Amino acid sequence: MRILVTGGAGYIGAHTCLVLAERGHEVVIVDNFSNSSAAVLPRLAHLAGRPFACEEVDLRDRAGMDALFARHAIDAVVHFAALKAVGESCEQPLAYFDNNISGTITLLQAMKQAGVGRLVFSSSATVYGAPDAVPVREDAPLRVTNPYGRTKLVVEQLLADVQASDPGFHVANLRYFNPVGAHPSGLIGEDPSDTPNNLMPYVCQVAAGRRDHLSVFGGDYPTVDGSGVRDYIHVVDLARAHADAIDYLERERQSLTVNLGTGRGISVLELVHAFERASGQAVPYRIVGRRAGDVAEVYADPGQAQALLGWRAEYDVDAMCRDAWNWQSRNPDGYTGTGDAVPDQP
Ligand code: NAD
Ligand code: WQD
Repeated sequence: MRILVTGGAGYIGAHTCLVLAERGHEVVIVDNFSNSSAAVLPRLAHLAGRPFACEEVDLRDRAGMDALFARHAIDAVVHFAALKAVGESCEQPLAYFDNNISGTITLLQAMKQAGVGRLVFSSSATVYGAPDAVPVREDAPLRVTNPYGRTKLVVEQLLADVQASDPGFHVANLRYFNPVGAHPSGLIGEDPSDTPNNLMPYVCQVAAGRRDHLSVFGGDYPTVDGSGVRDYIHVVDLARAHADAIDYLERERQSLTVNLGTGRGISVLELVHAFERASGQAVPYRIVGRRAGDVAEVYADPGQAQALLGWRAEYDVDAMCRDAWNWQSRNPDGYTGTGDAVPDQP
């Protein structure tokens, strides 16, 4: 199939482009590079053994999107393009609603115009807010707590309405838990442009000596060791689920919503210690107050993804830490300044 990957130059998108290419699909990337670098493209080409078509278009540019669909005979879309920082979304809700919701509306209009009826959507466990119980199942109440999360929930609802109006439209809502890690080659990975908001990239920068310590947000939660518990999932496992979702839409011609997590909760301190073991580096930390809006414990029931997609996570937390550190240590400044050069692999 020929698959359009929106946000394909970004962290999860790039890993997914590679899996799709490995499964024999033709991939067309569309990205405005607002949170990514074109330096990922030669690295992807190197890993896949062939170049990827890439168009620099903003999803909100309707004429640009129509022209893109006219140039490429697209069979299905995987839709990653979005802004994703929770804190920033509280400061700039309009930017988040505009980019994430208007961008999706324009994409759906262009898909309709082009007669494309299959979409895989990057949703998030953030749609569950603070869940009543863990593990979280897909039928848990949806209650978002910030503008970023609201954009994900609104898009899920919008997609349900489009689907109800059009029997030829099918969507896979994939609710990711906490994506971490990098491709085992160390050639592609997460490249935060600013101070990282998320735990794993922050831990990586502490281990690399770019920051002197990690602040552990809360040591008094009712968890295994008092620190927050999350369901970290290796980005390569996550990427694989997108290819499985494409197969599902093609095979079943119906929609689905599934959690993507390992089903295992890992505490902040457990992750820090696993990282120290995997990297051989010390990760100094200090336990500080809780972060506003955080909850004690969130992890997935991934049973639905296994039942419907035949997918389950394969990498454990040690592999997540090993691959995150491999990426960090080989690319201390991320993609910055690397241009078209593809570094040596291990
Ligand atoms: P990312 O920022 O690395 O990738 C997003 C990509 O989309 C970037 O390359 C960016 O330049 C592009 N983009 C953004 N707005 C665009 C627009 N209007 N037009 C064209 N391109 C645009 O983020 P990621 O971590 O790879 O996340 C991918 C998706 O997964 C997002 O939808 C995010 O909300 C969702 N998600 C991420 C996480 C996470 O922790 N990383 C968790 C759950 C869900
Ligand atoms: C994980 C744990 C923190 C940083 C966020 C979004 C969610 C989704 C994934 C997109 C928590 C603790 C963190 C630090 C710490 N994104 N922590 N020190 O909050 O579970 O989820 O990213 O959809 O929407 O909310 O992930 O990596 O920020 O935090 O102690 O410097 O690490 O308190 O327990 P979170 P995270």
